[in-house]
Amino acid sequence: MKNKIKKICCIGAGYVGGPTMAVIAKYSPDIQINVVDTNEKRISQWNKKDLTLLPIYEPGLDQIIEKTRGINLHFSSEVNKNIEQADMIFISVNTPTKTKGLGAGQASDLKWVEACARQVASFAKGHTIIVEKSTLPVRTAEVIKNILEGSKSKKSSEEKDIKSFEVLSNPEFLSEGTAIRDLEKPDRVLIGGENTNAIEALSQIYLNWVPKEKILQTNIWSSELAKLTANAFLAQRISSINSIGALCEATGADVREVARAIGTDSRIGAKFLDSGPGFGGSCFKKDILNLVYLSKYFGLPEVAKFWEGVVDLNNWHQKRISELIVKKLFGTISGKKIVILGFAFKANTNDTRESSAIQICKDLIQEGALLYIHDPKVISEQICNDLNASLIKEGESKDKGNYWFRVDDITSSLKDADAVLILTEWDDYSDINWDLASKIMRHPAWVFDARSIVDSKKILASDLNFWRIGDGSII
Ligand code: NAD
Ligand code: UGA
Repeated sequence: MKNKIKKICCIGAGYVGGPTMAVIAKYSPDIQINVVDTNEKRISQWNKKDLTLLPIYEPGLDQIIEKTRGINLHFSSEVNKNIEQADMIFISVNTPTKTKGLGAGQASDLKWVEACARQVASFAKGHTIIVEKSTLPVRTAEVIKNILEGSKSKKSSEEKDIKSFEVLSNPEFLSEGTAIRDLEKPDRVLIGGENTNAIEALSQIYLNWVPKEKILQTNIWSSELAKLTANAFLAQRISSINSIGALCEATGADVREVARAIGTDSRIGAKFLDSGPGFGGSCFKKDILNLVYLSKYFGLPEVAKFWEGVVDLNNWHQKRISELIVKKLFGTISGKKIVILGFAFKANTNDTRESSAIQICKDLIQEGALLYIHDPKVISEQICNDLNASLIKEGESKDKGNYWFRVDDITSSLKDADAVLILTEWDDYSDINWDLASKIMRHPAWVFDARSIVDSKKILASDLNFWRIGDGSII
């Protein structure tokens, strides 16, 4: 076959680059894959012998790394050398929201993607297929192509002939916490492009484990826009159900029952209807804001306003939770001990990007609460950075500005606590002994369950006050 891929280089060894390349390596033993990153610390973590020290926690990832690393999967910070040797290059770098300049607060910052395109333009040799794996604004492929073509205009005509590029869009749909399952059994693989040979070359890789009918081919702009649209639709479901949860609390309805009732309608479907503390994660907010920016840019302010509402509702919802905690605790939480269970933006990941826990904990610290935080996978350094607060120990000086305490043993941390707030649905939190908790907490004590994971009957049978998200029947 023309364009049979032997060497892949993936630029960006993050939550997408690492797991995606690990799964490609598992199913394509005849392809050599180099995952490169300018972050040397991250690369050294990917190369750690002790697999519990990999930079990201993702169930099942360690087993694949164990079988492929050093055989056909390699992690390195030698970006240029690996670009030069590759026949296919995945761009899998971060695309956060711009913080300054034109489009700040909404448009995606493409400086890392542009840097990759320039590096590829300088170092690639022969014919190279560039695959956009990062989530990008529609028409970014045009920018990448311009940079690649621009680099050729400076070369001699002989050099121009030996360098050629094709750009494909192949957005990633994995969810953190289930990334390996999502990659191994994807609902679909989307490939957008113009060149049939390049599309065929990428399809051949996926065909090593993905059934043919699940590989969708579209034009490149549809592929770029479909990724943003998928995230916008998913996030919209969460804002929709969270808005109804607030109405349930006000009316005596229960959002779980409402979700079950509407989810049985096959046109609506049962998935993604769990009311929680608001959506977090690195992508939903940034991708919707990007859609908002693009809509405005293309002269469609009503479309922009429609999608902006999804993010506004999410921000309001996070605030609503911290405010109701203050209200339930007699209007003040100053000096009160609140145990926070879960800091990651969802279970089974160590990622805290845009986690609802960040805003909610910041609000509670601002109100003067003493926060005792537990999370099985998020390290203390990350929580300090996210909260802009120091980690201190019991009895240590508190005049360091904002601070928090780490919880290792949940049961003993509940001693004298005024409240427990569950923010991430880790399994560890579903079987806490609430009878015992009630004996050691300071009364009147509260349990706030923003994830609906505790057994409400057990709590209500104990001497604890109980609030759970969207449940107007117990409030
Ligand atoms: P990440 O921040 O975890 O990883 C990106 C990596 O790229 C970083 O380690 C960074 O050092 C590296 N990098 C940046 N510029 C570089 C350069 N010029 N050369 C070499 N390395 C460079 O990000 P992520 O979560 O993996 O997301 C990557 C992209 O995938 C984003 O566009 C995101 O929207 C998209 N995406 C993410 C997810 C997810 O679940 N995290 C899912 C689907 C799509
Ligand atoms: C999401 C999408 O699900 C992926 O398809 C996409 O590839 C990815 O974004 C991306 O582009 O980054 P992810 O953010 O990893 O994946 O996790 P989700 O499972 O979608 O959860 C996002 C947030 O929504 C979490 O905070 C989660 O707790 C919340 N959520 C999810 C709910 O509150 N209720 C639900 O029913 C589902």
